[in-house]
Amino acid sequence: MTRTGRPAGQSLPELLVPPPGPRSRELAARLAAVESPSVDARREARARESGEPQGPIVYERGVGANVFDVDGNRYVDLVAGFGALLLGHVPPDVAPALDAQGRRLWLALGDVYASDAKVALCERLARAYPAPGARVMLGASGADAVTAALKTAVLATGRPGVVAFHGAYHGLSHGPLAACGLRPSFREPFAAQLSAHVTFAPYPRGEESLGASLLAVNAALARGDVGAVLVEPVLGRGGCIVPPPAFLPALRSACDRAGALLVCDEIWTGLGRSGAWLASVEAGVVPDLICLGKGLGAGLPISACVGSERSMAPWGAHGGTTIHTATHFGAPLGCAAALATLEALERRGLPGRAADVGARWMSRLRERTAGRGVVDVRGRGLMIGVELEGGGARALATSRRLLDRGWIVLTGGVHGEALTLTPPLDIDEALLDAFAGELAGALG
Ligand SMILES: Cc1ncc(COP(=O)(O)O)c(C=O)c1O
Repeated sequence: MTRTGRPAGQSLPELLVPPPGPRSRELAARLAAVESPSVDARREARARESGEPQGPIVYERGVGANVFDVDGNRYVDLVAGFGALLLGHVPPDVAPALDAQGRRLWLALGDVYASDAKVALCERLARAYPAPGARVMLGASGADAVTAALKTAVLATGRPGVVAFHGAYHGLSHGPLAACGLRPSFREPFAAQLSAHVTFAPYPRGEESLGASLLAVNAALARGDVGAVLVEPVLGRGGCIVPPPAFLPALRSACDRAGALLVCDEIWTGLGRSGAWLASVEAGVVPDLICLGKGLGAGLPISACVGSERSMAPWGAHGGTTIHTATHFGAPLGCAAALATLEALERRGLPGRAADVGARWMSRLRERTAGRGVVDVRGRGLMIGVELEGGGARALATSRRLLDRGWIVLTGGVHGEALTLTPPLDIDEALLDAFAGELAGALG
């Protein structure tokens, strides 16, 4: 508890200086002088687009749903590490496990000599797959998990083709980048280096667009060269778009008919973020491969591709060389964090809480923003998109006004037209209610 009687890490914003304060400005300038110029260039473009300065704050520490910047300002973090901090900043449920592992072993020998933490995590993840016999490939990032899935699909089917979706995001290393439907501009500079075997289909935003989406998927599958349909059960970066309930089951049937693998990218939706352990299983399907990342490590870099016995079996038939590995895959610190995270999510019933709290919050957001130029409040669990009239420029300007009031949010969607809200799953509902009022104010 804090002095105000609120639980630690669940306090309302407190701004000592208007953000960004002097120390943030100084550190940001030093970083801009040495970091890849893309970050500063994006900030300038955003300032031009929104008509609002986009100078960054610099984080110093975090606890629960609160972040403190280097000027001592306290914010409420409704982004939570791009959705990865399911348990908030520096969660007490995970910190002791990390401390203990930190005193024992930091790095084992990957695919040669595993750590005991890796054994326990792989067993735990295999149990999370909705059928017996599952196999696990660990990685360090979401993109690693998707890469493992795409490689598995080629081995299992002998076909290089991938069906992916407009608006989807799977990471930016070369394999996943080829399947990035969010914006062509991510792919274009590197097009010559990317797989030419990806077909994009529309992602259905409602019943009325389901038919066109499935038509495109089936047309691609009919070519006979597609080994994987790669799909987000709910679009994350694409703006928290929830597809109609029949979508994933229809993809499952289409993959079965065509002999392709259904790969569900649950890097954003999984582990409770969408109000269920796995959004795909909640939708009634058993994917061949499930990609997990983001929240798995409570902020540490760890990811996993978990797959059925049958789809993973071809790795064993390859013949004596481990052809997919990396120095830090399955590193003990990440494994220890992941085990503690999964245990806490389960023990505290946080996926179910996210479903309840998210539904109430969406209603509250709709009520408070009615008549203020909001196109849509949508999402599932605690991944919520608030799409604004006025597109990306207004969304950016609004996110900035919210930062000025002490609330951290990001914009998402294909045109940046939505505010995307992904707070920790255990955030105090009083903060969410307070935000609904602040958002109404920031929308003007
Ligand atoms: C659905 C989805 N898949 C994959 C990724 C890539 O994860 P990472 O950034 O850890 O590589 C992301 C990241 O935002 C994502 O949202």
